[in-house]
Amino acid sequence: MNGHYVLNDPLNHNPFDDALQHDELALSGVADLGHVVEPGVIDTSHGTILYLEDVSVSFDGFRALNQLSLTIDAGELRCVIGPNGAGKTTMMDVITGKTAPDSGKVFLGQTLDLTRMNEPTIARAGIGRKFQKPTVFEQHPVWENLELAMKADKGWFATLRARLGREAQAKIEETLEVIRLESDARRLAGELSHGQKQRLEIGMLLMQKPQLLLLDEPAAGMTDEETMALATLLNRLRGSCSMMVVEHDMEFVAALAGETGRVTVMAEGHVLAHGTLEDVKRDEAVIESYLGR
Ligand SMILES: Nc1ncnc2c1ncn2[C@@H]1O[C@H](COP(=O)(O)OP(=O)(O)OP(=O)(O)O)[C@@H](O)[C@H]1O
Ligand SMILES: [Mg+2]
Repeated sequence: MNGHYVLNDPLNHNPFDDALQHDELALSGVADLGHVVEPGVIDTSHGTILYLEDVSVSFDGFRALNQLSLTIDAGELRCVIGPNGAGKTTMMDVITGKTAPDSGKVFLGQTLDLTRMNEPTIARAGIGRKFQKPTVFEQHPVWENLELAMKADKGWFATLRARLGREAQAKIEETLEVIRLESDARRLAGELSHGQKQRLEIGMLLMQKPQLLLLDEPAAGMTDEETMALATLLNRLRGSCSMMVVEHDMEFVAALAGETGRVTVMAEGHVLAHGTLEDVKRDEAVIESYLGR
């Protein structure tokens, strides 16, 4: 046969048949054969981007996270609320590899065990994190901040020498539009308002094309107007990445969650309630521990 395979020829071994059987077995659930995942691609084939199960973290005997279980769907924008000290930031520390949990499972997609990865590896795997305080390069123009963020892992020298490809330029322009800083592209980042700096930092995270964006109190310190501009920005990012937003500002949460978005309420290191914003606002335990104060 000179190395050619003939479909449906019983005398010839046909690799397509093997592939077919493989799929059938997997579909019928009789065999756990696993499946091939492209390197660098997060496997969200079951619809979940982030999976936490029974995660606990103690600091000197104090349980900051107490058997926390939570999942985020691929493409979802999840708001997390809860009183001070509930463990919201600690949860983000665990997801990003900053804090190792004492016990529990933390997975990105189906296959990436985040408890076995360090911070830079987790960032490269596709998790971007926004801290409360904006960290931009104040002495550099807005445009360059985005450029530097794109090349963050290639070193400063390479960055300064590298010439921007067409694709990179287009990505910067697109991001400037998303963060509404088109007309400020040439200004020094240090001259921006607090709200603009926050949007720039989100833009810098977007340059890394994250699959999951974690934002810890992004609206803190913003004017009402800036807060609503941020809500518009995050709403526009829906579909391009999954997001988890921790926030105390309930108007901001309402603007993100809408009527159907799911909101998680955390208290004392675990999930106290979960549902639409209206659902959790009516929840007795939530009123007592958080909203009613
Ligand atoms: N590195 C640490 N060492 C000791 N205790 C810590 C550490 N990090 C957090 N904690 C404690 O863990 C608890 C949870 O803190 P965390 O910052 O996660 O809460 P939070 O929900 O983010 O609160 P907030 O709304 O005020 O930001 C707090 O009691 C805090 O003091
Ligand atoms: Mg916090």
